[in-house]
Amino acid sequence: MNTILIGAQWGDEGKGKIIDLLSRQSDYIVRYQGGANAGHTVKFGGKEYILHLIPSGILHRGKKCVIGNGVVIDPEALFKEIDTLKKTGIDVNGRLFISEQAHLIMPYHKLIDRLQEEGQNGKIGTTKRGIGPCYADKMARLGLRVSDLLDPEFFRDRLCYILDEKNKILTKIYGHKGLDFKEIHDTYSSYAKRLKPFVADTIQLLNNAADRKKRILFEGAQGTLLDVDHGTYPYVTSSNSTAGGAITGTGVAPTHIGQILGVVKAYTTRVGEGPFPTEFGPELMDKIRNKGEEFGATTGRPRRCGWFDAVVGRHSVMVNGLDTLAVMKLDVLDELPRIKIATGYKCGGKIHRTFPSNVRILERCEPVYEEHPGWQTDLSGIRRYRDLPVNARKYLARLSALLKTPISIISVGSQRNQTIFVSHRKAF
Ligand code: IMP
Repeated sequence: MNTILIGAQWGDEGKGKIIDLLSRQSDYIVRYQGGANAGHTVKFGGKEYILHLIPSGILHRGKKCVIGNGVVIDPEALFKEIDTLKKTGIDVNGRLFISEQAHLIMPYHKLIDRLQEEGQNGKIGTTKRGIGPCYADKMARLGLRVSDLLDPEFFRDRLCYILDEKNKILTKIYGHKGLDFKEIHDTYSSYAKRLKPFVADTIQLLNNAADRKKRILFEGAQGTLLDVDHGTYPYVTSSNSTAGGAITGTGVAPTHIGQILGVVKAYTTRVGEGPFPTEFGPELMDKIRNKGEEFGATTGRPRRCGWFDAVVGRHSVMVNGLDTLAVMKLDVLDELPRIKIATGYKCGGKIHRTFPSNVRILERCEPVYEEHPGWQTDLSGIRRYRDLPVNARKYLARLSALLKTPISIISVGSQRNQTIFVSHRKAF
């Protein structure tokens, strides 16, 4: 069965661990959107691996990994990741396939991302990896794709034209001296040689695999509330991180999808700017941030933390069509005497049960909470659902009921074995 795995909050839900677990039963693991702004952390055997561009399935020998057409690729970041993997004994040759249609992140994308963020207006709190400017060029038909890089003459002419446009923006708007054509051209021409062996028609590759009943795992990056259409616009990333992105970002038709798994944290976090209704006050923020090690895997920035938000959860279930949930980091709540869940928002005398599409309304929303008693027990060693304390089971059952979606996986620690698999029939 082919599975799409989605972050159902603002990213950093712990997708890396679940992708790693599901990779064992998959033949192909595929990234379909985003770029090196993602940071998927996998811990096992006393080691920690953080993957930014290459699908996390690469850690499993023999699995084929695909970077689909919807991803934006920074070759510098890609090669760094390949080299780091090699040092730990993981060879990507013959197992990594990169779409010839994926767009390239160019030096001017990273520079403009940084200059925009450093400007006075409209700060989003991006990862400064050039993601937004690269997707903007894709839509404006000013992008450079992997296949363009493999055609030296075309690449040179097109880079010349595009860089001329970019340098006008850099010099006239940002007062920057502009970027040198030869330097970019030479660097990217050397990347072309290194990239070539990985480049493939990934659309054919994946559709052939689907026809042969191979199992494909679509590895979502970021999260639903960071989706450019369905998230807290403009405080979002620039791709479709919802389930639809897996279709357009790979060229595999929706009819090939068997299930959609949403990953949520037992609480909520977000990095960067933008409204966050259930955000904690300073005391709980420090406690949960430290216990949950809530610091960005890509930028190291401290994550903002808050209570579980069922309005966000229901929105994710709806726009992604989530069939089932993985609830991560339940153990982080172990010490709390009382735990809150937001079930709605109060705004201008009205109660919202659905997620407001306008951030200006969201900014004015006060969460409506229900409170649950904590379990105040260490969950990190528990491996069976029935061994969880009753209050932990009640909390999970409530999340499941509020989201009208069964929970199939519960995580109580970062290691592979700190995982509880739940049979739907028995648990909820
Ligand atoms: P960008 O994707 O770098 O353009 O950043 C846009 C927004 O998405 C910022 O708020 C980032 O913090 C956020 N973001 C991007 N990638 C991730 C991620 O992998 N996890 C969490 N937040 C992310």
